[in-house]
Amino acid sequence: MTTAFVPNQWYVAAYTREIGRELFTRTVCGESILFWRTADGAVTAMSDRCVHRRFPLGEKPSHLVGDTVVCGYHGFTYGADGVCVAVPGQARVPRTARLRTYPVVEQDSFVWVFIGEPERAAATRIPRAPWLDMPGWTVVSGMEPLAARASLLVDNLLDLSHETYLHGGYIGTPEVAETPITTEVDEEAGIVHVSRRMADAACPPFYANSTGLTGRITRWQDIEFTPPCLYLLHSRIAPAGVLPNDDGTDPDAFHVEVVYAITPETASTTHDFWAVARDFALDDQDVSDYLAASNRTVVLQDVAALDVLEQVISGEPDGYQELSINIDTGGLAARRMIARMRG
Ligand code: FES
Ligand SMILES: [Fe+2]
Repeated sequence: MTTAFVPNQWYVAAYTREIGRELFTRTVCGESILFWRTADGAVTAMSDRCVHRRFPLGEKPSHLVGDTVVCGYHGFTYGADGVCVAVPGQARVPRTARLRTYPVVEQDSFVWVFIGEPERAAATRIPRAPWLDMPGWTVVSGMEPLAARASLLVDNLLDLSHETYLHGGYIGTPEVAETPITTEVDEEAGIVHVSRRMADAACPPFYANSTGLTGRITRWQDIEFTPPCLYLLHSRIAPAGVLPNDDGTDPDAFHVEVVYAITPETASTTHDFWAVARDFALDDQDVSDYLAASNRTVVLQDVAALDVLEQVISGEPDGYQELSINIDTGGLAARRMIARMRG
């Protein structure tokens, strides 16, 4: 049976900085989830719907008292394990009064939540994005709501030829669309690799303004996508002709790790988490501000295009035949992998 979401997977629900001693809700794969930190700092994740009359626990006047959540409608009170510890008007708490809880892990600046059968969480890999929380790297990040299904963002990110057209003046130059890609599917690791290496390309403003390079550049874009939800773009920028040393060191290049976590909110909306980590100008706030504003603009250009595309697609009958070409190899590989994971 095909489901709208890939079940039994870890998804990014939030940045760790978003969860504190306030109630916080986010919908992941159609499930409204309540997050908060206990007094000792652990993140908890549980259903946002009170078992009594379904009032949202993230909605005021619901509130935290110590390490319990008090429903704002009639006062059912829940512990961090989701178990109801008090109800109004009677001493006996019904045994079935408990909220569904979700396995949760903080890693690489993200709060990951497991959607599926909780007993399968421990054995399911959480993909890594270590640069987001590592010495030697400076990160800017954000999240934009996308009114389009997650698969459209997967297609978008796996085919960067669109940079030339949709992101001209920011990250697109003619060479991106002109340069062929190589695609490799690592079935065992569950990773799609797409690589585009430009030997002699114009430097787009995004990199010129952040690195200070003014002439032609060697630009590598190596994508590593772990379906269904974590996308890494290893970006290497150097003066034209400058390559890494034979021993793998690469002192004359600028490295940027672009990370996207693609989290379905509903079947037709998506949380578009984006982050840009760099290994240069680490303490330069102007560079951080520039990259944050510029990348957000680029993300919003994609959001605008994909929101339109969602409207078009949702109004069409099923079975429309798309035309695919070489640039789509990575996207098609990702679709096949995700279809298999859905079962
Ligand atoms: S709906 Fe929560 S206590 Fe009644
Ligand atoms: Fe884009």
